Amino acid sequence: MSENILEVSNLRKYFDISGGIIGRKRHTVKAVDGVDLTVAKGETVGLVGESGCGKTTVGRTILKLYEPTAGSIIFEGEDITKYSQRKMKPLRAQMQMIFQDPYSSLNPRHTVGDIVAASFAIHKVTPEGGVKKTVQGLLERVGLNPEHINRFPHEFSGGQRQRIGIARAIALRPKLIIADEPVSALDVSIQAQVVNLLDDLQSEFGLSYLIVAHDLSVVQHISDRVVVMYLGKVMEVARTEDLFKSPHHPYTKALLSAVPIPDPTIERSRERITLVGDLPSPANPPTGCVFNTRCWKAQDICRNSVPAQRTVGTSTVACHFPE
Ligand SMILES: Nc1ncnc2c1ncn2[C@@H]1O[C@H](COP(=O)(O)OP(=O)(O)OP(=O)(O)O)[C@@H](O)[C@H]1O
Ligand code: SF4
Ligand SMILES: [Mg+2]
Repeated sequence: MSENILEVSNLRKYFDISGGIIGRKRHTVKAVDGVDLTVAKGETVGLVGESGCGKTTVGRTILKLYEPTAGSIIFEGEDITKYSQRKMKPLRAQMQMIFQDPYSSLNPRHTVGDIVAASFAIHKVTPEGGVKKTVQGLLERVGLNPEHINRFPHEFSGGQRQRIGIARAIALRPKLIIADEPVSALDVSIQAQVVNLLDDLQSEFGLSYLIVAHDLSVVQHISDRVVVMYLGKVMEVARTEDLFKSPHHPYTKALLSAVPIPDPTIERSRERITLVGDLPSPANPPTGCVFNTRCWKAQDICRNSVPAQRTVGTSTVACHFPE
């Protein structure tokens, strides 16, 4: 598992926003501000952090659905950072996205068969055994009835629709899948089934995953490693077990302390950290460590100097005073 399928260095994505009635008041939203991450072949990396910290933007920028502002994206040893959309096209078959909302991500006027088969048409691939048979095989593989190939998305439940999205994503046998909150719109009872499906498909097809999720129990279950983001930056990267056992970054600690623990004795006695204040605006992030306005350990140095990534145990932590 040592070879990386994806290497992202110092990735930035800034959005220029014009405001005011005549649109002259401009500001820059630093949605992603210097992110480093890697995904090894066959690995699942979870990307977590509270709403608005830039998770979706990271995913979309890696897939070049957004043009990166700076940094580099290496996919299978190939630097795709500056690739045009035309040059990206053959690579799109190998890098797929699964979206959060199984309702809006499927075209309601297309049959399930057409939705799953669209990738073949776009990439001008004729699958062995024919399109229809292959699509039916894919539907079956994701746990749907292949007889339902001519049905429309509204005829399926949320969980089934997410399975359709997954069938579409794996149709071209991609190597990397970026899943943006793949189960958070689903009933809790359905979430585990879809997570297990993703797990099974990973071993079967040797997939690598970057999975964006705010639900830490999902992340803990599915990820080999976890990347914790806050306000466009990476706070901590660790193996899943290590992260949940001994978080080193104060922000990670705060995030984890909000997760309920099923054991009532531990749950009652443990320390809970409530973060005060709102997430600062990515248009005007704090100086120094971006977490300093909400960190209970903040000192002057935290307000003046950006902490470098340092190694603590097996983790990488961006903090002047790691735990
Ligand atoms: N297309 C865009 N134009 C302008 N600003 C954007 C755009 N997309 C995202 N942003 C801003 O960038 C920041 C990061 O947004 P992003 O959607 O990546 O966060 P997120 O971590 O995925 O949040 P959530 O958990 O709510 O999905 C937010 O402040 C958001 O308002
Ligand atoms: S660098 Fe300072 S403010 Fe930032 S997380 Fe560490 S202790 Fe807190
Ligand atoms: Mg998002």
